[in-house]
Amino acid sequence: MTFNELITTNWKFQTRGDPVLEKMLAQAKTFLTSIRKGGTQRRLSYLGTSGTGKTMLAKEIGDKAGLLGIGWTAFKYWPLLLDRMRPDGGLVAGRVLPELAQHKGLLILDEIGMGNDVKDFGLDKLISLLEVRNDRWLLTTSNRMPHELEAIDKRLSDRLYRFDGAVVECITMSFNERTP
Ligand SMILES: Nc1ncnc2c1ncn2[C@@H]1O[C@H](COP(=O)(O)OP(=O)(O)OP(=O)(O)O)[C@@H](O)[C@H]1O
Ligand SMILES: [Mg+2]
Repeated sequence: MTFNELITTNWKFQTRGDPVLEKMLAQAKTFLTSIRKGGTQRRLSYLGTSGTGKTMLAKEIGDKAGLLGIGWTAFKYWPLLLDRMRPDGGLVAGRVLPELAQHKGLLILDEIGMGNDVKDFGLDKLISLLEVRNDRWLLTTSNRMPHELEAIDKRLSDRLYRFDGAVVECITMSFNERTP
């Protein structure tokens, strides 16, 4: 399969003529093109309302990115990973976070707006992961809008834009509420 075929065919994610969904898909293609060509855009974020296909599209991008020779894609649902890094959760943060920071292929962090307790646990881990991941490929999703992430911590929202990061605001009708 050629790269052109890879990015133009076999998307389960549908746009139904909705400009927001079209923008999401267009950004997916731009990001994959940057991965393919070793371009400067290393980050992509889908932030917005529930049911717009952010997670679904992220996984599809992950599958396609895995075919581009940069290594396999790691997909992590951030709230669950955080839970598992709590003292009795079975995972050691000091081991998991450096591994994710160094992961060669695309790293997808799904739902980064959830589970971060600002005062207690989580937020510092997310911010430092985004920091030390440096210029390696990163895709994030969240239910929270850019200004809401900024309200949690400006360091968090800021890092989504680094390395030519694109932030797509996904505010539209839930896909499952659409009539075919
Ligand atoms: N654009 C789309 N094209 C095709 N199916 C879709 C689309 N958007 C959503 N769906 C369907 O709806 C399901 C839920 O979508 P998904 O979990 O990706 O939404 P989300 O934006 O991540 O929502 P949340 O913010 O609640 O996590 C998908 O598994 C898929 O079956
Ligand atoms: Mg989701």
